[in-house]
Amino acid sequence: MHVLHVVGARPNFMKAAPVHRALSQRAQIKQSLVHTGQHYDANMSDVFFMQLAMPEPTVNLGVGSGSHAQQTAEIMKRFEPVILELKPDLVLVYGDVNSTVAAALVCSKLLIAVGHVEAGLRSFDRTMPEEINRIVTDRLADLLFTPSEDGDTNLKREGVEEKKIHRVGNVMIDSLVRLLPAAKELTAHNLPARYALVTLHRPSNVDDGDALKSILESLLRVSEQMSVVFPVHPRTRQRIKDFGIDVEKLRLLEPVPYIEFLAMQTRAAVVITDSGGIQEESTYLGIPCLTVRENTERPITVTMGTNVLVGQDRDKLSAELSKVVAGKFKKGAIPPLWDGHAGERIADVVEHL
Ligand code: UD1
Repeated sequence: MHVLHVVGARPNFMKAAPVHRALSQRAQIKQSLVHTGQHYDANMSDVFFMQLAMPEPTVNLGVGSGSHAQQTAEIMKRFEPVILELKPDLVLVYGDVNSTVAAALVCSKLLIAVGHVEAGLRSFDRTMPEEINRIVTDRLADLLFTPSEDGDTNLKREGVEEKKIHRVGNVMIDSLVRLLPAAKELTAHNLPARYALVTLHRPSNVDDGDALKSILESLLRVSEQMSVVFPVHPRTRQRIKDFGIDVEKLRLLEPVPYIEFLAMQTRAAVVITDSGGIQEESTYLGIPCLTVRENTERPITVTMGTNVLVGQDRDKLSAELSKVVAGKFKKGAIPPLWDGHAGERIADVVEHL
C-alpha cells in the first residue's frame, strides 16, 4: 500500500513525523511526502525536518504565501498532477492549516482515500480560518483519527459514521516525548531564571492594530513581574512593523527550532500563547498556560490540563499571572492516550485497511 503524507506549515511537521516513523516499520507500506511550501523560511520549515528526522519531501509544491483563496487554490492546482502521477492508496493530512483542506479536497474529488490526523477538534468559532478547514476536512475524510474523546463526540454529533472514527491519541505529544530528553540536555544560554514564554500569531490577535497593541501592553505589564521571552512569528513581526508599535522593552527573538522551543517551554514559569499545539504541549509538561483566545478547539487542556482561556482581558491575564507567581495556579493531568504512541496506533489502523 502506498501512503502519501501532506505537510505544509510549521505545526504539521511534528504531527506527521511520528506517523511516518511508525509506518516505516511496517513491511507492506511504501510512503511519500508532499510539502506544499505554505511555510518556506528555513526557520519555519527546514530546521523542523532536520530535528524531527523527517525525510526530504518527495515533492515540494512551493506555493508560498497568499490570501486564503489564493493559497488554497494554488495548492490544489499544483497537488492534483502530483497525485495523478504518484497514485497513492491513502493520503494522510494533518491538523487544520490551508494545506490540509486543499489536499483533502483534491483527493476526495479523485476518489482517493483521505485520513485526517487530529480530526474532530472544534472551537465553534467560524471567524477562525482553521475552524473552516477542520469542518471541511472532517466532512471529506474517510478515516478520522481523533486525539481525545471530545473529538469523537463532535464528529458523531455531525453525523460521521462511527466506524470511520479512530481515537488514537495525540500525535504531537509523540514528537514531544521522543525529543524531550534532547530538549532537557540543551543548555539554556541567555535565558532568564524566571520568565514567561510568549507566542502570538492568530489573525484575531495580530491583524488588528488596537488588539495587538493592547496585548503587547499587557505583556509589558507582565514584564514588570518576570522577563518575557517572545519568539516572534513572521506574520506578527510584520504587523508590529506595519502598526509602528514600540516593543523595545520586550525580548523579541526569531522563530525558534522545535527542540529549543521545547527546552524553553519546560523551563518557563508560564506560557502565554494563542497557538493550538502549545496549549497541548504545556498541558503535557504541566506548565501553566494562559491562552489569549476566547475559545479553544482543545477543551481537554482546560478541563484536565493546565490551560486557562484569558482572551484579551488584561485583568484576567494579570489575575492568573498572580496565581502563577504565588504558586497557586491549578495543577493539571495528562489526558488519556497522550503517551507517545499515537503514531503506532495510526499505523495499526492503516496497516489493516
Ligand atoms: C498558519 C496556519 C495556522 C498555524 C500557523 C502556524 C492556516 C490558515 N493557518 O498560519 O493555523 O497555526 O500556520 O505558524 O493555514 N510567512 C513567512 N515565512 C514563512 C511562512 C509565512 O514570512 O515561512 C509570513 C508571510 O508573510 C505570510 C504570513 O507569514 O503571509 C502568514 O503565513 P500563512 O501560512 O498564511 O499563515 P500563518 O499565520 O503562518
